[in-house]
Amino acid sequence: MNLRIFESEIELDWEAAKALQFEIKNKPNLKLGLATGMSPVGLYRELVNLYNAGELSFRDVTSYNLDEYVGLDREHPYSFFQFMNQHLFKHIDLDEERIHIPNGCVEDVEKEVKRYNSLLGQEGQLDVQILGIGLNGHIGFNEPGETLSADTHIVTLSEHTRKVNSKYFNTLEEVPKKAITMGIGNILRAKKIIFIAKGEEKSEIVRQAFKGPVDPNCPGTFLQLHGNVDVFLDLGAAKGLA
Ligand code: PGA
Repeated sequence: MNLRIFESEIELDWEAAKALQFEIKNKPNLKLGLATGMSPVGLYRELVNLYNAGELSFRDVTSYNLDEYVGLDREHPYSFFQFMNQHLFKHIDLDEERIHIPNGCVEDVEKEVKRYNSLLGQEGQLDVQILGIGLNGHIGFNEPGETLSADTHIVTLSEHTRKVNSKYFNTLEEVPKKAITMGIGNILRAKKIIFIAKGEEKSEIVRQAFKGPVDPNCPGTFLQLHGNVDVFLDLGAAKGLA
């Protein structure tokens, strides 16, 4: 891993945006894996700033999100599509036709899982995957457990994850119980991973992910098997690695 530690979140967000800008300048038709959650929000803000300054275009980029809740359609205010729209899509020139997010609101969810997985397969390797980590060690929605799936699949969200994510909903009951997520294999096939974690509460799980034994009980540890992970941490999240 290429470890980069920043004194402030703003600095981290800016440097992560500059790193992605570099990748897009080198390859304008970049295949970009995107993540929801608070970790990449500052990066998205800085990408919008670069776009507004005329220093970055997403015209030829294609995006693929990691996951989506089962049961929420694109228009649902708490869907990941709306999250992405609010923080990134509606502010930039990424072609709607080139935005890919699993559709969590279809009659045949298994069919949607297969469609998304084969889309990732057909379109080849992602060039860059943006990634955070859950407090329980999940990446995407690959939850800790004895078995992990390589491919896109339906996951039952842990109570821990539902509680953490209930901050985006009115009540815990509203948080969907299932989601579609890229599998560990889909994520690890990306040529480069830009990993972001912030805050001291993430320091222990970040330490485990990068220094602990590779273990399905902490899916983030599988990142140790990838040869090109840029790890962007603030001082708090980096505490366990010092
Ligand atoms: P966060 O979520 O960025 O909001 O901490 C990360 C995750 O759950 O993967």
